[in-house]
Formats: sequence, C-alpha cells, structure tokens
Amino acid sequence: MIHLEEIHRIYDTAAAPVHALRGVNLRILPGEFVAVMGASGSGKSTLMNLLGCLDRPTRGRYRLDDADVAELSPDAVAAVRNRTIGFVFQGFNLLHRATALENVELPMLYATPTLRGDEARSRARVALGRVGLEARADHTPSELSGGQQQRVAIARALVLDPKLLLADEPTGNLDTRTSIEIMGLFQQLNAQGATIVMVTHELDVARFAQRIVVMRDGRIVADRALDRPADPVAELARLPDEAEAETA
Ligand SMILES: Nc1ncnc2c1ncn2[C@@H]1O[C@H](COP(=O)(O)OP(=O)(O)OP(=O)(O)O)[C@@H](O)[C@H]1O
Ligand SMILES: [Mg+2]
Repeated sequence: MIHLEEIHRIYDTAAAPVHALRGVNLRILPGEFVAVMGASGSGKSTLMNLLGCLDRPTRGRYRLDDADVAELSPDAVAAVRNRTIGFVFQGFNLLHRATALENVELPMLYATPTLRGDEARSRARVALGRVGLEARADHTPSELSGGQQQRVAIARALVLDPKLLLADEPTGNLDTRTSIEIMGLFQQLNAQGATIVMVTHELDVARFAQRIVVMRDGRIVADRALDRPADPVAELARLPDEAEAETA
C-alpha cells in the first residue's frame, strides 16, 4: 500500500532550514494497522502529510498503491487524496454550524460532485451508523461530546470508503473510555479491510495497533509487530465502574 524510500523533507524557513525527515524508509502492506510514535518534533505529522499527499518530499520516493506519487499530475494527486485516503485530525476540523450529517456529507461534494443529494445523504447516514451516531445526525458539533465529535470526524473520513485511513492523534483530548471505544472502531474498520496509520503519543493507545513504528529526529528508530494487539472489549471491562469511581 505504502512504500517510502529514503524520504527527506526539509522546510525552508526565514531562519535556518529544518530537516524534519532524514531518510525514512517504510513499507506498509494493505490491511495493516500501524501506530507511529515519537517525541514532539520528531517528524510524525510531517510524515503523515506526505503519506496523505498533502505535501511532497524534498528527496526520496513515495509509492502509494503502486503509483509513484511524484509522477502524478496535480489532478491525479487530488483524485487519489479524495478517493483513496481518509483523514482524521486531532482538532476534528468540523464545521460548527453544520449538523453531524452535513459534516459527513461534505467530502462527497468535492470528490463525487455528480452524486445526487439524496444519495449523498443516505451514504452519510450509513457512515454515521458505522460510528454509532445515527441518533445524533441532526446535532451540531457544540451539541456533541468530544468523543462524539471525534466519531463524526471519523465518519466523515470513512464516507468515501477509503483504502487508507490516516489519523493524527485521533484520541488526543479524549478520556480513557472514549479513546478505547475509538480504538475498537479502528480495529473494526481494519478488519473490514482498511489500512490504518495512526499517530499517537500514548503507548496505551498504540497497543491497539498491530505494529508500532517509533520516530526520533526525523528517522525511524524502531519498528515492531505486536504479538497480540490490545482488545478494546477486555480493556473497557477492566475500567473502574464510573459510578463507583465517583463515590470513591
Ligand atoms: N511548516 C513547517 N515549517 C517549518 N518547520 C516545520 C513545519 N512543520 C514542522 N516543522 C518542524 O519540523 C519538525 C517536525 O515537525 P512535526 O510537526 O512533523 O513533528 P511531530 O512529530 O508531529 O510533533 P508533535 O508530536 O509535537 O505533533 C519540527 O522541528 C517542526 O518544528
Ligand atoms: Mg504532530
């Protein structure tokens, strides 16, 4: 699915250039669920932006789904981005005046402008159903909890059935229970065939992936498969009961 060879990314800034990626080599197979970890500034988001074709490497080769991304026209890159990749970012990036359903419909406006309005709406409903939010379809983001907003963002990323889901800190700012629920959802999507690459600072979240890649100073310094990824159902059962926690 993903093949990076000797990828470098140097940002030109007014001060000194920043060498954010310094020779990254990485192969991700279809159907993998990979967590990317590493200290702040180690290059994780830079890597995700490249993977998502939101940015181009200064040097090196990126093959996505057997195509050399550097050789694609801007239109072809936009098409890949719209059709192949779903993005989930920490800030959610939801439209605040739009309902959950309208937020999820949005990518179809760009990617499949010829889709009929009622079809777009019904696909958006299906996507909201996959994240368990059909009952909140007509709520605006301010009428939803943080975890529910994050699930709307995930539904929006899924609505076009991307082969590749890229998530930068998808559980940032969420409580433990909601984080585990989101990881359960990622595992389900992965089991249905989606390749997932997720950035996280927390080992507790990374444990739900099948493989953990660690970055330091713009390089990959560790890359390990997990024998047995964490099980969200068991982890949820192990959490202290909320009512008990309150009286304790
Ligand atoms: N647009 C930019 N222009 C210049 N330098 C940048 C830019 N974006 C990132 N950097 C620098 O590149 C390096 C890697 O940044 P990046 O955002 O990839 O780190 P990160 O691993 O995602 O960190 P965090 O965990 O804090 O999100 C940092 O030194 C950062 O300051
Ligand atoms: Mg980052």
